[in-house]
Amino acid sequence: MAESLALRSARLLLRRLRAEDAAALVGYRGLPEVARYQSWEAFGPEDAARLIAKQVAIDPDTPGTWVQLVAVLAESGEIIGDCGIHFRADDPQQVELGITLAPAHQGRGLATEILNTVLGYVFGSLGKHRAMAVVDADNHPAAALFRRVGFRQEAHHVEHVWFKGAWGSEFVFALLNREWQDPLSSPQLP
Ligand SMILES: CC(C)(COP(=O)(O)OP(=O)(O)OC[C@H]1O[C@@H](n2cnc3c(N)ncnc32)[C@H](O)[C@@H]1OP(=O)(O)O)[C@@H](O)C(=O)NCCC(=O)NCCS
Repeated sequence: MAESLALRSARLLLRRLRAEDAAALVGYRGLPEVARYQSWEAFGPEDAARLIAKQVAIDPDTPGTWVQLVAVLAESGEIIGDCGIHFRADDPQQVELGITLAPAHQGRGLATEILNTVLGYVFGSLGKHRAMAVVDADNHPAAALFRRVGFRQEAHHVEHVWFKGAWGSEFVFALLNREWQDPLSSPQLP
């Protein structure tokens, strides 16, 4: 059984995936508008079962693994999204983040709350040096989200990846632990 992890914020509980979460994951990850800029084309019950089974064997902060947390509304217990933390194999002091919210719960600042909570964990509790995210350049809500929580745009790769039948462009966003602690310490990029 993998190590447990639970993070709380004003409106949410973030916790490890459980077998009984499968239907909720399929309910929003399977929607075309949610999958559009994600690594998957479709997300059905078998995909959910595979994801959950893999998670059961992974302890947080293991280099080379993604830990997926589900976001649960504290008020109702409803699963409204998930956030992945990639503990990078190439550098254990760096993480990559990914996030997905059910459309019915977008536009209320819940993704902002999830990322701020996860940043408290990776920077505050684990003391990581740098968090980064790769975002499709056409995914405007995701780019706005990472900017809103303080990430700097470090790169704009133009048509560098063949993605879902076309050349895709991506932004790389990053935030250092010291920038998270003191936004004024952010390097002034040209
Ligand atoms: C990326 C994604 C999570 C962003 O979700 P989101 O709902 O736009 O982000 P938030 O939950 O932080 O909500 C922000 C919106 O709520 C508003 N808001 C309301 N209350 C707020 C609060 N307390 N704090 C922050 N924003 C608040 C903001 O003004 C913003 O509105 P706007 O979109 O009109 O500017 C979502 O679009 C998604 O799941 N997309 C599909 C999956 C995906 O592509 N993921 C990215 C992979 S990298």
